[in-house]
Order: sequence, then C-alpha cells, then structure tokens
Amino acid sequence: MALLVPSSSLLISLLLVLLFIDPSVASPIANATGYALVARICEQTYNKYYCTDALKSDPRTKTADPKALLEVSLKLASSNATATTLQIQSLIKDAKDPGLKDHLQVCADVYKGIVDDLTKANTSSKSGQYDDVRRSAIRATHGPESCEVAFKEPPAHKTPLSTYNFYVELLSDIVVNIASIIKL
Ligand SMILES: *[C@@H]1O[C@H](CO)[C@@H](O)[C@H](O)[C@H]1NC(C)=O
Ligand SMILES: *[C@@H]1O[C@H](CO)[C@@H](O)[C@H](O)[C@H]1NC(C)=O
Ligand SMILES: *[C@@H]1O[C@H](CO)[C@@H](O)[C@H](O)[C@H]1NC(C)=O
Repeated sequence: MALLVPSSSLLISLLLVLLFIDPSVASPIANATGYALVARICEQTYNKYYCTDALKSDPRTKTADPKALLEVSLKLASSNATATTLQIQSLIKDAKDPGLKDHLQVCADVYKGIVDDLTKANTSSKSGQYDDVRRSAIRATHGPESCEVAFKEPPAHKTPLSTYNFYVELLSDIVVNIASIIKL
C-alpha cells in the first residue's frame, strides 16, 4: 500500500507532464492554426489522410485560423459538388440503360440539394452564423449516401460515382467540424 501511493502520484505527474508538453492537448482547438489545426480537425473525420491532403491543397491553409480554414473547406466542398453535378449530367447524357439513367437522375436531384446547402452554408459563414453553417453542411453530408443507395435499387448498377460521393461527404463533414469549433 505504501508503494502504491508514490507510484500512482508518479503516474499522475507523468500525465500532467504529457498534457503540458503536447500543445495539441494543452491548447483549445479554437486557438489552433495552420497544419496543427488541420490535424485536430482531420482526426475528427472518417478519413484523416484524405482530409489532410485536401485541406493542404490550398496554400491559405498553412496559416489559416478556424475562420479562414472554414472558407477553404467551403470552397473545396462546393467545387467538388459542382464538379460532381457536371459529371452526373455527362453520365446521364451517355447512359443507354434506362435503369442506370433513373439512378443517375436521383443523384442529379440529390446534388442539386447538396449544392444549395453548401451555397447556404457559404452565405451563413459570411454573416457569421456558424450554427447555420453547421446545419446546412450536416444536410450536405447526407446527400452522397442517398446517391450511392440509389444504384442499389433494382435494377441495381455498380455506382459510377463512389469517388465523387466519397469526397463530397468528406469535405462537407470537414465544413461541419470546423464550423462547430468557431465561437461567436
Ligand atoms: C485562446 O484564445 C482566446 C481568445 O482569442 C484567449 O483568450 C485564450 O487565452 C487562448 N487560450 C490559449 C490557451 O492560448
Ligand atoms: C475533390 O476534392 C479532392 C480533394 O481536394 C480533389 O483531389 C478532387 O480532385 C476533387 N474532385 C473534383 C471532381 O473536383
Ligand atoms: C461564397 O460567397 C462569396 C461571396 O460572399 C463568393 O465570392 C464565393 O464564391 C462563394 N463561395 C462558394 C464556395 O460558394
């Protein structure tokens, strides 16, 4: 018993030391900037590697505070959603199979909603309504799954949009995570 006391207090001291050495543990996430902020945000997403690559693709990220990183992520999410919309239009144009065409049409409608939601999120961020940004972006995160599920409806087809859907869901989720840490 006499031995347990010093060893458990040693453990506690070690923990305290660790807490103070590691700045990512010690400082609030809302105070983080640049790649340290990226690491904190991306570890909350379902793919921290793609998340990190995507955010680092914009040169502004290197020195971004949470508000600047929110702008970066909104731009990435919107441009991906727009690119996906164009890809869907082109696949619809080329589709010979009416079943496949129907599934693609579902995705076209879904993506109209996603682009709308991300546009709303962008507008809300300009007026500092970060709760609204978060809500709109959460809605956007649900779209890609609805598009994927459409291809499983009979007659089932292999999804031609999985990479696009993966990115739009991930990038929208990044927007959600960043908007959640910005305090008014
Ligand atoms: C975080 O930022 C706030 C406001 O900018 C400041 O008051 C606080 O001291 C900062 N905390 C740390 C640990 O840097
Ligand atoms: C979507 O975003 C990712 C990450 O930024 C990028 O690598 C990819 O090229 C984008 N896709 C489209 C279709 O814009
Ligand atoms: C966000 O809104 C600004 C204008 O307030 C606009 O310049 C920008 O292109 C918009 N970005 C996106 C991703 O919609």
